[in-house]
Amino acid sequence: MTFVITIDGPAGAGKGTLARALSHHYDLALLDTGLLYRSIGVQALEAGIPLDDETQLSRIAHTLAPKDLMRPDLRTHEANDASSKVAVFHKVREALLNFQREFAKNPPAGFQGTILDGRDTGTVICPDATVKFFVTAQVEIRAERRLKELQARGIKSIYSSVLQDMIERDLRDSQRSEAPLRSPEDALTLDTSTLTPEEVLKKAIAFIEMRRSAK
Ligand code: DC
Repeated sequence: MTFVITIDGPAGAGKGTLARALSHHYDLALLDTGLLYRSIGVQALEAGIPLDDETQLSRIAHTLAPKDLMRPDLRTHEANDASSKVAVFHKVREALLNFQREFAKNPPAGFQGTILDGRDTGTVICPDATVKFFVTAQVEIRAERRLKELQARGIKSIYSSVLQDMIERDLRDSQRSEAPLRSPEDALTLDTSTLTPEEVLKKAIAFIEMRRSAK
């Protein structure tokens, strides 16, 4: 069976940072599943498709290509907002299921396995993953991190609106009926509020090694 790691958690908790570090450490192919929803949201905005038109949104989802995940405009405020709106729909999520499962099962040549990060990767996409993490942090801290990230990219933002966006997105992602954000039962929860990325990585590696030696 392929070595699969899943990392779920709310926005700005440090999932991406941990996923990238683990992908280097263990030679794993990485899929940031949030990019799928971001890309659908951005394409819908561009085409003037309403963000509640499930049928048209699922059409975009069915035709999603790897190059769509590399667009430079997937991390804007509009993309954040649109991604969590399109992600509530069953048909949209269903259309993305196979793509994500195939990626998880079949790492490209040269990789030792795969790592997926998102909201439902350990609960819905890969319930049989080798190791699962739930990465979280206090919302104020996540908003501060996101603010710094945006400023570093030259995007003018203010803390109160970043915090407000994050609270709204958290609510939408965790209260939707389709694959809501929740911690998988067999996941290790890592609260990164007071930890450095290096400390988070160390804890994650210790857990992976413990799981591997137990098998
Ligand atoms: O991880 P992110 O911030 O890039 O995700 C953007 C949005 O996509 C998030 O608000 C909800 C949605 N998403 C999801 O519903 N399921 C996933 N596995 C990943 C992201």
